[in-house]
Amino acid sequence: MKSLLSIFFIVISALSIKAQRPATTNYDEAKVPVYTLPEVLKTGSGKAIKSAKAWEKLRRPEVLELFAENIYGPIPKDFDEIKFSLKNEDRNSMNGKAHLKEVLIEVFRNHKRIAINLTLFIPNNAKSPSPAFLLINNRGKENTDPTRLVKSEFWPAEVLIESGYAIAAIHVSDMAPDDKNEFMNGVLQLYPEQLNANNGMRAIAAWGWGASRVMDYFETDPQIDAKRVAITGHSRGGKASLWAAANDQRFALCISNCSGNTGAALARRQFGERVKVINTTFPHWFNTNYKKYNDHEELLPVDQHMLISLIAPRPVYATNASEDLWADPKGTFLSLKNAENVYGLYGKKSKLPEVAPGLNTPITEPPLAYHNREGKHDLRVYDWKQFIRFADNYYRKK
Ligand code: GCU
Repeated sequence: MKSLLSIFFIVISALSIKAQRPATTNYDEAKVPVYTLPEVLKTGSGKAIKSAKAWEKLRRPEVLELFAENIYGPIPKDFDEIKFSLKNEDRNSMNGKAHLKEVLIEVFRNHKRIAINLTLFIPNNAKSPSPAFLLINNRGKENTDPTRLVKSEFWPAEVLIESGYAIAAIHVSDMAPDDKNEFMNGVLQLYPEQLNANNGMRAIAAWGWGASRVMDYFETDPQIDAKRVAITGHSRGGKASLWAAANDQRFALCISNCSGNTGAALARRQFGERVKVINTTFPHWFNTNYKKYNDHEELLPVDQHMLISLIAPRPVYATNASEDLWADPKGTFLSLKNAENVYGLYGKKSKLPEVAPGLNTPITEPPLAYHNREGKHDLRVYDWKQFIRFADNYYRKK
């Protein structure tokens, strides 16, 4: 009976995933329209950007603003108070290998309060503050089980601890429930003016806001090296991780797993998921202005290579999976490639090849890393092992 029921649910969820993918979805490379990407190294008034200084002073703020205004909404920085309390800890977690901390982060603004639950494991054998990975968890909370009775490939905490990293997670529902009728019941309660604005933040920016509050906490925890924190997310969480890292330069690394449309993939290729589809299926993810670009990706003043550029010179790792054409693997690789010139301004030479590497051939050298894993749209131990190599490569060579 139980297995019959689970087959029923698998079929229903497969059908509902299918339902989001319109028959007109293009998966044919030959049908990708001819497109021109907006120039990342030219200001709105046509001035060529030739140095990191000019990028930071003139163009970067402009690009950040374009993304906030037209796509994600801003990530507000002001609030009245933030409090951290240790709700539970176990110094002998994972057979003595890790120190578990469950921290409640409370943020107050205009007499409203929001609470974020942080689950954190820190390696016990660390001789100095630990570098950390923070996952914005968009799947079930059981994936980040603090008791470790449930172990999931989505957040393989033991693997991270063995590799000398602290591993943390927050759940999207604490910041903005992932539902078009519920998303306002979180961070947006603190910022009602955002809710009323056409360019105001929605769920993706709210998730990114939460990641920054964890960073506020990390800066107070002597066991964490807050200068070496990687922000990580899968799919919708991967979109949020990019926007979080673009806004908060305290994140040392950004990892965006299978983030696809309005994540790491170029919009103008119109391959797989399109802007209209994402805006219709998930109207609560991006701001109201973004709906203007439904069926008109070519009018966007930015494309996603510019989101990656905003994170420069900090390293970015984007991934795909071979069975996930919906997230446009080639468009993701091209996005990274088209951000290379911004890294170049900082003297950071990209190690990416000219064309996308084959399946299961990770390029884990910073500043721009990529792999296309064989298999489904997912976050797995395979992916995490590459992220660890990427972080190792970066921190050791810095
Ligand atoms: C849907 C959506 C994608 C998203 C994905 C996910 O497939 O269309 O944009 O990345 O869900 O978050 O798993």
